[in-house]
Amino acid sequence: MYNVLIIGGGGREHALAWKIKKSPKCGQLHIAPGNAGTLQFGQNLVIDVSDFKAVEAAAKEHAIDYIVVGPEKPLVDGIYDHFENHPNVKVIGPSAAAAQLEGSKSFANAFMDEFDIPTAGSLAVDQSTIQAGMDYIDAQKPPIVLKADGLAAGKGVLIIRDKAEAKTELQSMLDGKFGEASKTVVIEEFLDGIEFSVFVITDGKSYKMLPTAKDYKRIGEGDTGLNTGGMGAVSPVPFVDEALMHKVRSRIIEPTINGIRKRRYAYKGFIFFGLINVDGDPYVIEYNCRLGDPETEVILPRLDTDLVELFEHLYTEKLPTASVRFTPNTVATIMLVSGGYPGSYTKKLPILMPEKIEDSIVFHAGTAVEDGQLVTNGGRVLAVSSEGPDHQAALRTSLDTIRNISFAGMYYRKDIGFDL
Ligand code: AMP
Ligand code: GLY
Repeated sequence: MYNVLIIGGGGREHALAWKIKKSPKCGQLHIAPGNAGTLQFGQNLVIDVSDFKAVEAAAKEHAIDYIVVGPEKPLVDGIYDHFENHPNVKVIGPSAAAAQLEGSKSFANAFMDEFDIPTAGSLAVDQSTIQAGMDYIDAQKPPIVLKADGLAAGKGVLIIRDKAEAKTELQSMLDGKFGEASKTVVIEEFLDGIEFSVFVITDGKSYKMLPTAKDYKRIGEGDTGLNTGGMGAVSPVPFVDEALMHKVRSRIIEPTINGIRKRRYAYKGFIFFGLINVDGDPYVIEYNCRLGDPETEVILPRLDTDLVELFEHLYTEKLPTASVRFTPNTVATIMLVSGGYPGSYTKKLPILMPEKIEDSIVFHAGTAVEDGQLVTNGGRVLAVSSEGPDHQAALRTSLDTIRNISFAGMYYRKDIGFDL
């Protein structure tokens, strides 16, 4: 039996708690900070998760064996490295060096260059090389893609049709539009295609596939309006057939794992490949060094394998012989969000929903309990996941469940999977 601490407090972490608690190998479960949903499966801890000494003290107090890290920031900041030589605690995630695949776009591009992994052509510039950036923009066919090099909470990518405007934006990003994150900017060639994501679990030498997923980031139906953390997701992605998946494995996943091995990076966790299908050929849009949110809310319900056992395999060289099984059924999730999100919104609004929900799993994202009442506590509030023979059926079930859930200002997209 292992005691597990999950870091994070969104829908992804509720889904992790739900899945981990099912494992016969899971002892005590703790979540920091967690939400009202994770309380069903373990104890929420009030600690500052960016303070690794505080995490270490909590790990000691609760005799933690595994720390499962949901969000990217603690990984980029080195939580793996903090515990690397710890006698008892094992972190599920990459070392800070490997987390740069997500933490720095220019690092990721250099890595893909070195290991011949298909991605957009690009140039990284800073204030001292801005002229080369302007020339690069001139030489591109619009639209122009500008990316803050560092972590910018999903906001650091601009896609601009007009070259003059792109040049002005480049200057303003380098001047600190996204703070430190855009002191270096990556200018990229625009790739035209349909996006999808693949997930693997890796010990840094071998890997096992997890289900594919597609998320829907825009607030409005038909993928319109502002970007959000994600308004819904579907798994598997129907257009990812054997032929495309074969290319993904041989051109992208395997060279990535080989690159990690060759560079001797410690990596005991998940890789989330953000990909784009350009006329049947997959390209990398981005690497993430963790699971996605809301992708986790559709991937984990499909997984028939014990997740804690997989964590064990990462540290015992047993991953190559592990079998990872998932249901062929589709799972779709719909995010219920606060009115106004992704702009400003009100918190602490009472949520009404039935005690027992039979046909869907309702994962909590931004929720809390106040005086015994379940209330909203974030922009993304609940993720309603359902299973079905295809995404339309799964979606219908989620929409039925949502009819019995309400809070003031509640908004959601009814068209998740519309483009599939
Ligand atoms: P990222 O933060 O890197 O995932 O980028 C955010 C979004 O910008 C992606 O989900 C894509 O929709 C889009 N994007 C990023 N890079 C490119 C590119 N080179 N070509 C086309 N679209 C892109
Ligand atoms: N849903 C996208 C992400 O987790 O980055």
